[in-house]
Amino acid sequence: MMMMMTHLIVVGAQWGDEGKAKVVDQLAEFADMVVRSQGGSNAGHTVKFKGETFKFHHLPSGLLYEEKACVIGPGVVLAPHFLKEELDSIHAKGYSTKNLKISDRCHITFPYHVAQDKQQETLRSSHNGSKIGTTGKGIGPTYMDKVGRMGIRVADLFESEITLKTQLQTILTQKELTELFTLETLYTLALEYKAILAPYACDTLALLQDALKAGKQLLFEGAQGTLLDVDFGTYPFVTSSNATAGGACTGTGVGPSKIDATLGVMKAYLTRVGEGPFPTELSDTVVGERICEIGVEYGTTTGRKRRVGWFDAVIARFGVEVNGLDGIALTKLDVLDSFETIDVCTGYVHVETGAHYDRLPTSLATLSQLKPVYETHQGWLADTTACQTFEALPPNCQAYVKRLEVLMDCPVWMVSVGPDREQTLMRRHPFALEKV
Ligand code: GDP
Ligand code: IMO
Ligand code: MG
Repeated sequence: MMMMMTHLIVVGAQWGDEGKAKVVDQLAEFADMVVRSQGGSNAGHTVKFKGETFKFHHLPSGLLYEEKACVIGPGVVLAPHFLKEELDSIHAKGYSTKNLKISDRCHITFPYHVAQDKQQETLRSSHNGSKIGTTGKGIGPTYMDKVGRMGIRVADLFESEITLKTQLQTILTQKELTELFTLETLYTLALEYKAILAPYACDTLALLQDALKAGKQLLFEGAQGTLLDVDFGTYPFVTSSNATAGGACTGTGVGPSKIDATLGVMKAYLTRVGEGPFPTELSDTVVGERICEIGVEYGTTTGRKRRVGWFDAVIARFGVEVNGLDGIALTKLDVLDSFETIDVCTGYVHVETGAHYDRLPTSLATLSQLKPVYETHQGWLADTTACQTFEALPPNCQAYVKRLEVLMDCPVWMVSVGPDREQTLMRRHPFALEKV
């Protein structure tokens, strides 16, 4: 197959955990660099390789290819102690992280961010029962301080003692933290963070721009998913970064004109962790329990049981539009192998007015009054996990995928029928796309 020079963005097109890591790990073979652009320790990306399971949180999923550069861009927030645990676990498995580069512009999560995250969740629950169900990693407060211009960046850790202490003191005062943390405690922590980050920190903008000029292929790995995007997700039940494709540009400093294609990852059904609306939810039903058990739907970062539901084409179309998707990687199709019938939501109907909706409303109150309209597909009742080509899939299974393409108005380029690298059916290779 002829490979073209392509810079590819991979994003989650649902509520996260779509199988981005598996797809990125697989495509990384064809890229020179794998780049993360947003999110942080809230992400949980699982790669199965040579019988081993790797769980990445901050780290790009391309890390198992030792010759590939892995870059963490400025849009990512870092929890250095947690990052160290992640690095240690990779080293313990015999892999090197010498090609990891971390932007000196990344913002740092301090313990007060984690405390604030937990406190906000408690307050939200006790006041109106609407906690977000965050991962508790301090992600929201770290991004709040970044936007509020009260953050500490990696580069700040490398400033002189007097400069860093002045910055920390300003933050302690501004955030009214003086009763909880002393300047010395924070400064000591900052020095620990500096030691962890020193081998990796650099100006990744220069690195990426040089790579572009040298004709290297870049692969951008999204974290979370479209419906968790702070601008386009089911706000406020979202994360605090732009998980949509635009985030790959703002979070790395690679301009949109350089991007050749955007691939959206979607499950053949739907899951969500945390609170918030979910029109096709099947949790606490027999079917839902079966999908959850067969799909092993438990969170990679928090271990929480994921909520599950049928594929929602309204959400899928939204993902196609918001990200400008060129193609889809449809994952976990094998999880549906044993279902006699499979429902797909094609639109919603308002329970009171009877009005039909084929777009996602902004208002969560409206969304909560919408019921899915389903079409029912006959299942294929056959094991797909050993299929090597799309044509080898049972006819009903192929028909299911083709129907989703029509409903989404976007082609399915890759189909995943198991967690391993080999269990991927490539209909059109994303890196073979010619720029038009
Ligand atoms: P990510 O956050 O989008 O990278 O996804 P996660 O790693 O959190 O969750 C996806 C889970 O599904 C992981 O445990 C993967 O190993 C697994 N997985 C990925 N693709 C497939 C597939 O096609 N079939 C099955 N059965 N499991 C898959
Ligand atoms: P990956 O990259 C699924 C969810 C949390 C919560 C909301 C806000 O593995 O797909 P946060 O801690 O970010 O403030 O939590 O977002 N969430 C995820 N759900 N996959 C993820 O990442 C997620 N990262 C955050 O459950 O509902
Ligand atoms: Mg995940």
